[in-house]
Amino acid sequence: MKHTGESNDTTAFVAALPKAELHLHIEGTLEPELMFAIAERNNIRLPYSSVEEVRAAYRFSSLQDFLDIYYSGASALLVKQDFYDLTWAYLQRAFAQNVRHVEIFFDPQTHTGRGVAFATVIDGISRALDDAEARLGISSRLILCFLRHLDEADALETLDAAMAYRDRIAGVGLDSSERGNPPGKFREVFRRARDAGFAAVAHAGEEGPAEYVREALDALEVVRIDHGNRALEDTGLVAELAQRRIPLTVCPLSNVKLCVVDDITCHPLKRMLDLGLFVTVNSDDPAYFGGYVNENYIAVAEALDLSREDLAQLARNSFEASWLNAEAKSALVAEVNAVAEA
Ligand code: ADE
Ligand code: ZN
Repeated sequence: MKHTGESNDTTAFVAALPKAELHLHIEGTLEPELMFAIAERNNIRLPYSSVEEVRAAYRFSSLQDFLDIYYSGASALLVKQDFYDLTWAYLQRAFAQNVRHVEIFFDPQTHTGRGVAFATVIDGISRALDDAEARLGISSRLILCFLRHLDEADALETLDAAMAYRDRIAGVGLDSSERGNPPGKFREVFRRARDAGFAAVAHAGEEGPAEYVREALDALEVVRIDHGNRALEDTGLVAELAQRRIPLTVCPLSNVKLCVVDDITCHPLKRMLDLGLFVTVNSDDPAYFGGYVNENYIAVAEALDLSREDLAQLARNSFEASWLNAEAKSALVAEVNAVAEA
């Protein structure tokens, strides 16, 4: 799908597909314009003088390079309305891209560490999610991510704070600096979270080795792997992921921006599909990586010459890998099939 006519076709086909997004950091949807507006009303000085200067800073050489800028941007968020506006802006964009269901990560420690209450964060986000269900028909789940560069005691305190919101949080995840912070560091907090009924996911194999993917499965008992690119370095692991149908939430444009892959044409997504892996396409931190979910589908469709059937399979996978009930899944998959057959 490389030529202009085909490219227009691809864009229209991707736009028409109903999709779920399963790997999305809400703090990573903070567009520079909103960052400035929120910082101004909160009397916070950003280390940039203009929106253009912010965008120019978005050239990253590694995950850590990105994280430093991402945490600095998140420091503009202080009150409930900020978290509401952030989440609502994302949901409107998702709606415009025919996203029907979202499973959203939030990083409470990024905010509680600056003195913002857990309640402020979750109340603002969940009010926007409720409005999206009522006004846009988008269903959602929330996933609390522990920051892996901090210690497990800090994660345990965060889990304690989350227990008051048990009904609003579906799962726990693990994000931030992967190298040097293996999943096993968080064995106990994940055990307690699972015992409390939270589903578990973890970022693994983005920059870290295949061994971290194995450890996320064995030590944290995750039901999905976020990224998982480097699992491809271990054929036994690939076979297990395929056989157990463990979903991988892959983020193509993120991988390019964070130099996980050299170029979009080298992205392993097609190889993953061919290996029988249960892959989905997601945007990760779209305000920082140059595209929302449709741009991610289009980028891989064009660079890897994906067929319409491949794209429909990715959309089906997004619902099948979600935490929707069986009835909701089959209704949405039927909608994908109707678009694919039209
Ligand atoms: N936090 C936000 N985006 C992330 C990513 N891609 N990897 C790890 N932590 C993150
Ligand atoms: Zn991520």
